[in-house]
Amino acid sequence: NTPSIGLTGLAVMGRNLARNIAGHGHALAVHNRSPERTRALVEGFGDDVAAQGGRFVPSESLEDFVASIERPRTIIVMVKAGEGTDAVIDALVPLLDPDDIVVDAGNAHPDDTRRRQEALAAHDLHFVGMGVSGGEEGALHGPSIMVGGSEHAYAHLGPVVESIAAQVDGVPCAMHVGPDAAGHFVKMVHNGIEYADMQLIAEAYDLLRSVGGLSPAEIAEVFAGWNEGELESFLIEMTADVLAHTDAATGQPFVDVVLDAAEQKGTGRWTVQSALDLGVPVTGIAEATFARALSGHTEQREVAREVFGTDLREVEVDRDRFVDDVRAALFASKVVAYAQGFDQVQAGSREHDWDVDPGALATIWRGGCIIRAQFLDRIREAYDADPKLTSLLTAPYFADAVRTGEAAWRRVVATAAQAGVPAPAFASSLAFFDGLRRDRLPAALIQGLRDDFGAHTYRRVDRPGTFHTDWAGDRTEKEQ
Ligand code: 6PG
Repeated sequence: NTPSIGLTGLAVMGRNLARNIAGHGHALAVHNRSPERTRALVEGFGDDVAAQGGRFVPSESLEDFVASIERPRTIIVMVKAGEGTDAVIDALVPLLDPDDIVVDAGNAHPDDTRRRQEALAAHDLHFVGMGVSGGEEGALHGPSIMVGGSEHAYAHLGPVVESIAAQVDGVPCAMHVGPDAAGHFVKMVHNGIEYADMQLIAEAYDLLRSVGGLSPAEIAEVFAGWNEGELESFLIEMTADVLAHTDAATGQPFVDVVLDAAEQKGTGRWTVQSALDLGVPVTGIAEATFARALSGHTEQREVAREVFGTDLREVEVDRDRFVDDVRAALFASKVVAYAQGFDQVQAGSREHDWDVDPGALATIWRGGCIIRAQFLDRIREAYDADPKLTSLLTAPYFADAVRTGEAAWRRVVATAAQAGVPAPAFASSLAFFDGLRRDRLPAALIQGLRDDFGAHTYRRVDRPGTFHTDWAGDRTEKEQ
């Protein structure tokens, strides 16, 4: 059987994806710029995939690779995002035939995906931006796959990605999210939520340690316990694992020997930039991204430590109660972060006419991806019950969860502020919740100020129309 699908770019993610595809009984053409990697793949895993009814068809040159694939070809590109992707696409295009499908499985910026799609459409080629989540392990054993692009492309690619994706209750964690950049857009937001989730976990850890007085090993136990309940998720499980780990060289908790400056490849930043453009308040994701930035400002941090000192302020807490309060605050804040992420997905979908189904998206995030969590089932149910849901936060299950945790959430944010332990994601999530439910927001005053200094006009609560007050003159109001 001649392959109708190929994969180029055999670094860790590409290699594992290739093993996964061929391991599911598919014939797969494989190629890498340096042929050693292609050889290593075939030598190392050719027999394994043959035992599963699949096979690798290796090529050393891009020309042979393309020629080894049956038309219409589906070619997955798994190279370093950015210029690396453009270089491979440019080399591929002259070798392809109309209706062939090029799939970018990296973490591309949705704007790049739109640009590439338009460029390839001019050659009668289909371009698919495909979000793949789950890291190296996921790529090998079952990732969550968010496919953009045309129906034609999904008709060819869908059966393969659905066979290799994680399966939850027999449902594959892969879908055609929508046309053009929809797949990469939702993957970007997935990563934004991942940033918020991790920041919330980090704040919970910091508070338990600095205010609650628990050791990393004890906090590992706490997280392992939380993973048995409504917080059950991959990241909570990983937190228990990382906190329980001891550094071999020093015998210290691993978390104490790691430099406290969080890095990023950029998907969180893109999410926030896109949210600003769309006008969607993703405060949890934004705080998480800024918290990483703050952690990296080592010079400023050093000066501030010298000037202000590092002492925490004294606060009294009951340890067991505090642990439970932090759990409740974490869950409520997490609900806010996911609600904001889903708001952004829907805003992006409206902006570009993608018609993304949020319930289906929650379904494919239940397994394989980094933010997989038990409560994504609840998100799916909320959208099933009301496909037009305005905000996840107000869906019955989440509204109840937030109401139940509200008092604890406030105590934790207040305690953090009193102690001097930064909890920006906890605090901003609470402020978002309060902002949404507020009877009158001080935005009215902002409108007044804008009208006063810049004649920017305002609307009134009691009648329709747009108004301006003659602030500098006799203060009469005129309808504009
Ligand atoms: C995934 C992850 C992955 C991402 C890393 C690192 O879904 O498998 O989101 O795509 O590259 O999590 O992201 P940062 O380096 O930006 O933290």
